[in-house]
Amino acid sequence: MNPSTDFVPFALPSLGREEEDAVLAVLRSGWLTTGSVALEFEREFASFVGAEHALAVNSATSGLHLALEALGVGPGDVVVTSPYTFASTAAVARHLGAEVAFCDVVPGGYNMDPGRLETVLKTTRNVKAVLPVHVGGLPCSMDEILALARRYGCAVVEDAAHAFPSRLPGGFAGTLGDIGVYSFYATKTITTGDGGMVVTADSRLAKRMSTMRMHGIDRPVWDRYTSKTGSWSYSVVEAGYKYNLPDLLAALGREQLKKADRFLEERRRVAGIYGEVFRSLDFVDPPPDGPGHAWHLYSLRLRPDSLRIGRDEFVDLLREAGVGTSVHFIPLHTMPYWAERYDLTPDSFPEALASFLRTISLPIWQGMGEDRARRVARIVAETGAPRSV
Ligand SMILES: Cc1ncc(COP(=O)(O)O)c(C=O)c1O
Repeated sequence: MNPSTDFVPFALPSLGREEEDAVLAVLRSGWLTTGSVALEFEREFASFVGAEHALAVNSATSGLHLALEALGVGPGDVVVTSPYTFASTAAVARHLGAEVAFCDVVPGGYNMDPGRLETVLKTTRNVKAVLPVHVGGLPCSMDEILALARRYGCAVVEDAAHAFPSRLPGGFAGTLGDIGVYSFYATKTITTGDGGMVVTADSRLAKRMSTMRMHGIDRPVWDRYTSKTGSWSYSVVEAGYKYNLPDLLAALGREQLKKADRFLEERRRVAGIYGEVFRSLDFVDPPPDGPGHAWHLYSLRLRPDSLRIGRDEFVDLLREAGVGTSVHFIPLHTMPYWAERYDLTPDSFPEALASFLRTISLPIWQGMGEDRARRVARIVAETGAPRSV
C-alpha cells in the first residue's frame, strides 16, 4: 500500500499468519464449537485483566444481556445508562422487561456524568443497575459511579465494549464493577469477527451467566463430550440462551490477545500524532484524554463557530480526500424507539446532543503507521482551513 495515495479506512483489523494458523488448527481438529480453545481464551483473558471469572460469549450484546439477567433485572426494575452509546447497551434492559433511565454525559465529553447520575438515582425508584459506558476506551469516573451505586443499593455493569485494554491504577476498566463486558466485534481493538467476554469476581454471578449462556443447561457441552462418565446426560435448569463463543472464533481471540499491548502502543502513537497537529488548529478540539485510555476511538470535536462548514459536509469532504470516518454515537434518546417510549426530545440530554453534533471518529488502528496518521491529520487541517477568496 502506498500511504500517500490510498484511502485510509476508519478501521481495519490486524490479522496475521498467527491468526490464520490458529483457525486452521481448529478447522483440522474436528472440534469447531465451544471447547478447549474457548476455555484457554477465557483463562488467558481473565489472567490479562486480573478477573476471577471470564466467560467468552458470541457478542458484547449477549454479554450485557447475561449480566443484567444474572443480577435479577426484570419487570418493575430500572437500569440507568447513558444515551451516548450503541443500541444494545439499553436494549438488553428492555429484553428483560425492565425500563431504562438515561443519564447525560459530562460537558464536553462522552462518558456518564457522576453529578447527573446522583440526580437520576435520587429521583428514580427501583434502580437495579447502573450501566456506565467507557466510550472510545476512555474509562468513566468509576470511583464516583461505584460510590453512588453502593449508596443507592444498585449493581454496576461496565459496558467495556471499547475499553480493552484500559489499565487504571485500581485495575482494568471492566473489572471495577460487579460485571464487565468487552466486545470483539470486527472493528474493535482485538477482534474475533463477532464475540465478547464477560468478567466478574462473583462466583454466583459467573455460574448463573455460564448456565444461561448455554440453554440453561447445567453442564458445558465440552464436558459432556469429553467426560468418561455420563457423557449423554444433562439437565435443563432454566430457559437459557445460546450465547457461547465457538473455538473457531476463540482461536482468533487468543492470538489477538497476545498482541494487545503492542496494538495499544500503536494506537497511542496515532493519537499522539493527531494530538500534536490538532492542538494547533483553532477549529477543532482533540478528544478528552485521561488515565487508561485504550484509544479504541479517536473522536475529533469540531468547533462549529470557527468552521465555515458543518460536520456532515466535513465528513463528505474527508471521504473525497481519502479519509474514512464514522460518528460515535447518534444518542439513543434521539432514536424513535426511545424518544417515543419515554417522551424524549433531542434537548432532553443536552450534553449528549452537543457532543454528537460536533464529533467525528477519525481512523485509528494498529498497522496504520505514522505516515498515514500524518496524512489524515494534514487532510483534516486542510479541510477545515478557512478558504482564501
Ligand atoms: C458501547 C457499545 N456497547 C455494546 C456494543 C455491542 O457490542 P457487540 O457488537 O459485540 O454486541 C457496542 C458495539 O459496537 C458498543 O459500541
